[in-house]
Amino acid sequence: MEALLDRAASVLSAAKRVVVLTGAGISAESGIRTFRDTMEGLWKEFDPQTLATPQAFAADPALVSRWYDHRRIGCLHAEPNPGHAALAQLQQTLLGRGGSFTLVTQNVDRLHQRAGSTGVLELHGNIHIWRCTRTGREMPLPPEPLTEFPIRSPLDPAGLLRPGVVWFGETLPAETLLAAEEAASAAGALLTIGTSAVVYPAAGLIDLAAAAGATTIEINPTTTAASSRVDVVLIAKAGLVLPELLRRMTR
Ligand code: OAD
Repeated sequence: MEALLDRAASVLSAAKRVVVLTGAGISAESGIRTFRDTMEGLWKEFDPQTLATPQAFAADPALVSRWYDHRRIGCLHAEPNPGHAALAQLQQTLLGRGGSFTLVTQNVDRLHQRAGSTGVLELHGNIHIWRCTRTGREMPLPPEPLTEFPIRSPLDPAGLLRPGVVWFGETLPAETLLAAEEAASAAGALLTIGTSAVVYPAAGLIDLAAAAGATTIEINPTTTAASSRVDVVLIAKAGLVLPELLRRMTR
């Protein structure tokens, strides 16, 4: 582990352009449930087809809105953990050295931003801003749990508010995806953290970066679909290993 940590730290220090891709695992130590972990993964308990598709919302908007509102409040009550904080510091460190840094996340919780990361590319949207199904206009929700579901849109009597997340079967926000792909294609190093790397196009960023010559590093307590094709595999929790990586880069 020591040698792998040193290697990862020197790769990240040497790269002019660093891209980080995060998934649910980076927020696990903040108490937010992942999707596919054997015990606590959300998709082990709930069926995404009845909760996370446009068809599910059309069939039962009250159920879907209630579920997302419950998760939204969970995200508001969670605090960023040392992994989020280390990534925000990594951004400052690399920018301070004249490099470039792009954080791409699949997470909708906004914990990266609350930890101080800036310019975060949210591939799957976020759970705090909802939008009117009729006008498409976005609006934040109040910090308290909502009580009536589905949520009527204040903008159009025939509209409902839906969470600003990307559901299965929906396309990712085009500009965000393009920016992420451009960053990955130009990266000298790509660090993938806390993602099972089975959902595309997000997981494809790892291959884009590798094809462009980037050194790839993975941080995860277990091996994933990407482990066999990355250069450095750090089997560890993000909240433990990221601060250690940063220490080695800045000492
Ligand atoms: P998954 O639940 O598929 O994977 C979470 C990963 O985090 C697993 O590989 C875990 O081993 C790892 N993990 C758990 N605890 C960790 C820790 N402390 N430190 C580091 N890693 C840890 O979540 P994602 O890969 O993010 O999409 O899932 C991708 C997408 O699928 C999500 O964005 C969501 C979901 O359906 C949408 O909702 C559109």
